[in-house]
Amino acid sequence: MMPDEIRPVFLKDDAVMMLDQRLLPGREVYLEFTSAQAVSDAIRDMVVRGAPAIGVAAAMGLAVSVPASAEDPDTFDTAFEGACRIIAAARPTAINLSWAVNRMRGVYQAHKARGVPAVREALRQESQAVMDEDIGMNRAIGKHGGALIPDGANVMTHCNAGALATGGYGTALGVIRGAREAGRKVKVFSCETRPYLQGARLTSWELVRDGFDVTLITDNAAGHLMATGAIDCIVVGSDRTAANGDVANKIGTYTHAVLAHRHGIPFYVAIPTSTLDMDCPDGSHIPIEERPKEEVLGFGGQRVAAEGVEVRNPAFDVTPWQLVTAIITERGVHRAGPDGYDFRI
Ligand code: MRU
Repeated sequence: MMPDEIRPVFLKDDAVMMLDQRLLPGREVYLEFTSAQAVSDAIRDMVVRGAPAIGVAAAMGLAVSVPASAEDPDTFDTAFEGACRIIAAARPTAINLSWAVNRMRGVYQAHKARGVPAVREALRQESQAVMDEDIGMNRAIGKHGGALIPDGANVMTHCNAGALATGGYGTALGVIRGAREAGRKVKVFSCETRPYLQGARLTSWELVRDGFDVTLITDNAAGHLMATGAIDCIVVGSDRTAANGDVANKIGTYTHAVLAHRHGIPFYVAIPTSTLDMDCPDGSHIPIEERPKEEVLGFGGQRVAAEGVEVRNPAFDVTPWQLVTAIITERGVHRAGPDGYDFRI
């Protein structure tokens, strides 16, 4: 790791450390978690967010959350399975969460006959591998995707699919980092991403911090900027991509994709294969999280909406594969055939 790189989640002794993303960009505070319930709450409350980062937090949470008092195999077994269920239930849309929990379950099954201390060590090593592999996949995504970004391009992104949303480096922002590392000049337009403002608070923070040319726009400005030639391409991440290439991502992504299609602007999605749900045939099967109404009624405790109004707050939407120009994974750049994407190739 480069000394100055952003790491939203990491292991320290017997705890999971998380950069509290609710406080960014104002304050950089790391919180410490040692129980499954606390890790699950931290994911639900957005201390950590972004699909791959949620997966890393889940894996590390499972590595540390069985208490030291669980010394015999049966007690450990019950505590570990309970922890899996608690953490897996934190948020529904990002497939990386259940992917990471199932991966940890597999390691537990493979090592449990070796005794509790050996199991603990194997879980710890696996959770570190989940993070290291994620960063490796993101760097590969950056190389493949960076090659798609022309020199001098104006690149729009939505939400935060950066280092903060992953083990490190980022997926969509990994593509932007990859383009810069390949020597290209890139100007980024960050949509503010109502209602939780991941673009305004997190993407702007991490790109300014890393010396990028970044301009913040309201979500509503995207169509105007596309129509007037200010955007050359769009790159976003995903929380779950179905086997046919339908993409679930932060609410508003679908709107941008429709507009990009109308204006002939390339619309790229960057994902590690841990975000692929090959058991999900298409986007209609992806569970869409509905978040608390308070996120829409105001921000930071300040109410902006009229009393008595009803609220809908779907946190994600699905962009059909037909609107996606290419999906970039660590394996390369995938393009759709006549019936959708085929990730088995
Ligand atoms: O609600 P969030 O902030 O967890 O939503 C995050 C996103 O929608 C990201 O775009 C997605 O997880 C990809 S992160 C590499």
